Amino acid sequence: TGRVKIKEALAQGKPGQELLLKGWVRSVRSSKGVTFIVLNDGSNLSGIQVVAEPDLPDYEEFSRVGTGSALAISGVLQESPGAGQALEIKAGGFEIVGAADESYPMQKKRHSFEYLRTIAHLRLRSNTFGAVFRLRSALAQEVHRFFAERGFVYVHTPIITANDCEGAGELFRVTTLDPVRPPLVNGCVDYAEDFFGSATGLTVSGQLEGELFAQAFSDIYTFGPTFRAENSNTARHAAEFWMIEPEMAFADLAADADLAEAFMKRLCRFVLDDCAEDMNFFNTQIDQELIARIEAVANAEFARMEYTEAIERLKKAPVTFQFPVEWGLDLQSEHERYLTEQVVGGPVFILNYPKEIKAFYMRQNDDGKTVAAMDLLVPKVGEIIGGSQREERLDVLTAKMEQSGIDPASLWWYLDTRRWGSTPHAGFGLGFERAIMYLTGMENIRDVIPFPRTPRHAEF
Ligand code: 4AD
Ligand code: MG
Repeated sequence: TGRVKIKEALAQGKPGQELLLKGWVRSVRSSKGVTFIVLNDGSNLSGIQVVAEPDLPDYEEFSRVGTGSALAISGVLQESPGAGQALEIKAGGFEIVGAADESYPMQKKRHSFEYLRTIAHLRLRSNTFGAVFRLRSALAQEVHRFFAERGFVYVHTPIITANDCEGAGELFRVTTLDPVRPPLVNGCVDYAEDFFGSATGLTVSGQLEGELFAQAFSDIYTFGPTFRAENSNTARHAAEFWMIEPEMAFADLAADADLAEAFMKRLCRFVLDDCAEDMNFFNTQIDQELIARIEAVANAEFARMEYTEAIERLKKAPVTFQFPVEWGLDLQSEHERYLTEQVVGGPVFILNYPKEIKAFYMRQNDDGKTVAAMDLLVPKVGEIIGGSQREERLDVLTAKMEQSGIDPASLWWYLDTRRWGSTPHAGFGLGFERAIMYLTGMENIRDVIPFPRTPRHAEF
């Protein structure tokens, strides 16, 4: 018989059934006449308890196996007399596929998340990171299902690009070593600019290319890695993160917020229903109000508040903020948290921001002062989504680019869509890691992405 995943064995197996399981040893407990091993293959949180008695061939060797070892176990499923699990496996034979000795760093004691970041290649074998990355994988698949059901076309936008979509100067430059020409400086030559015919960088957002696709396929989305040379050492910023960016033609800001709300609620419902074991773990180990909060959000109507009102609320707040609150200034994370946690008590869309603090592509409102922007703020994490209705009027957009110091000629292809068959259109970007933080209660972005890239950290 072939190898069976532990999750499947526990869900579908019957007492008396013979199975072959393969995985890694989480713990070993030996006392006279019996050895218990918890074996985990990553398919579930708890793994399975393996019981061995001296009638097992090479029992002595089995009872001394090290935590972290890779094992193959053949045996029979049986009802477990112990608390905590319904089924266990009684070992009939085993093979040590890859041994691990006492120097294995992931011994049973609890390690801090800071320490586990230094062994990001091994932390995957812990309960917490098993739960995080199983949920991350399942959630990514649900994202695709959500958009596929609505007829959105999935677009792969380029990673190497010549445009800085957000205009925040956070583009990582692409360079290369010239393999042919003699070295110019320190043995390095920037050959990449020559190669592409223009300076290029790593994309900060797939939006501009996504807009081109929306002007042909109506409803599209991207889901890919984005990069920002953001030198902020916070728990919410990474230099490499994944973003989901839907874009809809024939849509305004209200439709954009409606889609964002339906999307967030769907992700909440999904983790509660389909990641229940891992969510229960987060609820007991990370944040005891998590499940109640996500359950409430899955059913709630999201609040919507004008930026102008948000500023008034903040000015009236009976707390002192570190950063100033003034119409025209951007909201800082302390303000975002106050609005979601104290004023609204849940997610809130902030709508129609001052045009000076937002990107060039956002549609100007008739008041001449604001643009049709929306941010979705949530308790604890703050901004999770940023979006807008786009400027579809060629003359207004061109003038805005010139004011913002962007050469319209450099985005001629973008402007072409406003020249021929322009439509009102809107979209948003959801930071995938921020979504995972929100849905799991994990407090640091470094702990929801497999190998985080942050200032001074890109070793592996
Ligand atoms: O608000 P942002 O900058 O919006 C855009 O990039 C638009 N082009 C999206 C669009 O309309 N298509 O980024 C969107 C989201 C943020 O709300 C946040 O969740 C996440 O991306 N994000 C980051 N996540 C982790 N690390 C960073 N450095 C992030 N910067 C933004
Ligand atoms: Mg933003």
